[in-house]
Amino acid sequence: RLTGFVSRQDAGQKHFGAIVCKSCGMIYTAGSPEDEAQHIQHHERFLEALRYVGWKKERVVAEFWDGKIVLILPDDPKYAVKKAEDVREIVDNELGFKQVSLSCPAKTKIYLFVSNEKMIVGCLVAESIKQAFRVLAEPGATLSPEKDTLQHQRPWRCSTEPEPAVCGISRIWVFRPRRGKGIARRMVDVVRSTFMYGCFLSTQEIAFSDPTPDGKLFATTYCQT
Ligand code: ACO
Ligand code: ZN
Repeated sequence: RLTGFVSRQDAGQKHFGAIVCKSCGMIYTAGSPEDEAQHIQHHERFLEALRYVGWKKERVVAEFWDGKIVLILPDDPKYAVKKAEDVREIVDNELGFKQVSLSCPAKTKIYLFVSNEKMIVGCLVAESIKQAFRVLAEPGATLSPEKDTLQHQRPWRCSTEPEPAVCGISRIWVFRPRRGKGIARRMVDVVRSTFMYGCFLSTQEIAFSDPTPDGKLFATTYCQT
């Protein structure tokens, strides 16, 4: 039976008779009552986790025409941290991370993009780091992902020499129906200006850890590398 999520392994692959939900990302077989029931259950749980009720002392770090960015720190009240954790779980699920714990929860900052409709449509997890390895340019690599589907699957090489870095982005995720509207770009911009007090981090000082194909394309466009 075909159930599960669009994970790294099966993203982009075509399953016969399978449907990918445009909103929660679950793959299920249309016409199978069991699958459809399971999808509805997952779909509702997914949307519930993204529902944002808010709290009095929320830390709004940016406001836009279509929403705001709220920052949650490890020492925040339990309900705030719990909400951030719930969202991170959903993100991990979609990214195909299975129970990967954060390297250091005490140094983790979670940024949530909340839409005007009070829905969490973006999540970014940032951690303090000291060094990172530069991704090396690949011979023949192009910047036209549509024309070059192979680029999507191609592994990449990293430099063996560590370079100093300040902020590691370990997760970045945007709700499917809201992708392509600059939400990820705006979240990274806000991280650069708020991660370290009084500093605006350069694109050299931030690092994307273990990116997915989507993440790699975004990072390449964003950092113009
Ligand atoms: N393919 C090609 N270009 C892309 C892609 C993509 N998949 N995603 C973003 N870009 C480019 C856009 O064209 C845009 O360029 P422009 O500013 O010149 O127009 C730029 O990157 C910024 O795009 P945004 O609209 O800000 O990106 P979006 O809000 O759609 O979010 C994201 C991008 C987070 C990668 C989203 O596609 C997503 O959630 N994907 C699934 C989860 C995932 O794979 N996340 C990355 C994991 S890696 C990690 O967490 C370190
Ligand atoms: Zn769904």
